[in-house]
Amino acid sequence: MDNNITIDTSRFQEISVSYLKKLSGDKLLTFDVLDQQGNTVCSAGQALDDELLKKKSEEGIKFFIPRVTESIGVYDREIIDMKKLKAIADDTATMYTDIRKNGKMTHAQFLQSHNHLAAIVDSLRTEDKTGGVLSLLKDIKDFDYTTYTHSVNVGMLAMILVYKEMSTGDKVKLAALAGYLHDIGKLRVDQSIIQKPGLLSQDEFKKVLEHTREGYRILDSVVDSTGKKVVSNIIKFVALFHHRKLQSPGYPFRDSDKDQTRENQYNELPDLARMIGICDMYDALTSETPFRIPMGAEKALRYILSLSNYLYSTDDIHRFIKVLGLSLNKGMPFLKAGDFIMIESEKISMDTRKKVRVYEVARIEEISRINFMNPKVMIFYDTIKNKKVHNIIVDLRYDSNRRVVRVFESTRIRNMLLRQLKQD
Ligand SMILES: [Fe+2]
Ligand SMILES: [Fe+2]
Repeated sequence: MDNNITIDTSRFQEISVSYLKKLSGDKLLTFDVLDQQGNTVCSAGQALDDELLKKKSEEGIKFFIPRVTESIGVYDREIIDMKKLKAIADDTATMYTDIRKNGKMTHAQFLQSHNHLAAIVDSLRTEDKTGGVLSLLKDIKDFDYTTYTHSVNVGMLAMILVYKEMSTGDKVKLAALAGYLHDIGKLRVDQSIIQKPGLLSQDEFKKVLEHTREGYRILDSVVDSTGKKVVSNIIKFVALFHHRKLQSPGYPFRDSDKDQTRENQYNELPDLARMIGICDMYDALTSETPFRIPMGAEKALRYILSLSNYLYSTDDIHRFIKVLGLSLNKGMPFLKAGDFIMIESEKISMDTRKKVRVYEVARIEEISRINFMNPKVMIFYDTIKNKKVHNIIVDLRYDSNRRVVRVFESTRIRNMLLRQLKQD
């Protein structure tokens, strides 16, 4: 029997307390329930609390608001069987212990990884219900955080990203497997260094950096019974390059390419290596480790946006956010009216005739859920000329050249910007 309560949140703007009361028993909510002020009163996955409903009725509250997510019938445990996912995490733990001990991966272990991930991809339904899949990532994280749960998470994120871009099954499987195996090289790095709380010594840091090359080596040496290499190049490249960044070298460094700009080095990376790099960053930011408090989805997404044209290209960040931003943040835009933001655009320089990037500071005036990356903004500062400009309202839905690339979080800077905005 289905013990979940799923409501078509595209139809219900609010749920009456009396309706919720009717759904009594052992039921779990499949959506967050908010009060009129937007505070969560009951989270998805929790049981309905009769006491709470009674208390709210007595307080005169007649309606709750279901948190709308991108998908309909949000929290559908049928999409991916949680047991299946946990079993994969357990199998991964066993497999990793083995690889760590032997220093290499066998063909059978590679096939097992492939089959596990392929089974999940095959079980995805064609309807867009990925909100449910994403909510499972949190469950996986709740039971432990180690290299193997991180691997499962990054595999799932890469899978959903590619799946939501309407790719075919094979591409989705490749993304899932590449994400899952991206950190396999860590199994050749001393565990005490990987899990060390606090700062690493220079020597230890160097050893951690080596996990990219080690990952490539492990995957490159997987052969079948005839001695033929079985892991595709793209999976090996993801392991090797998932830390390469746009403005900072990332690793591994490439000394032979001193004449190449970092931007070229970044742009020539396989698409999947760049996107899995962002999935990796997202999972690291939102994961709890013994020595780090996790960021919530909203904070992590705002942080990732601020890495545009710095650690990752603006195109890649926007791609990640447009595809996953709403689902990861439970259907809510992570930008809001009143946010001070940086806008990037391109123009042709009068002097050099080359394309240059221009940055403006603006405040979000209006934002819609569907078009949250293209809000209506008031631009008031030109960072190239370093001066205040006349306040102009621009609707970014109709200006594809201008893109939001940063949110200013610090109160000090926000106050300073507010003063600028009010200046004539
Ligand atoms: Fe890594
Ligand atoms: Fe990683």
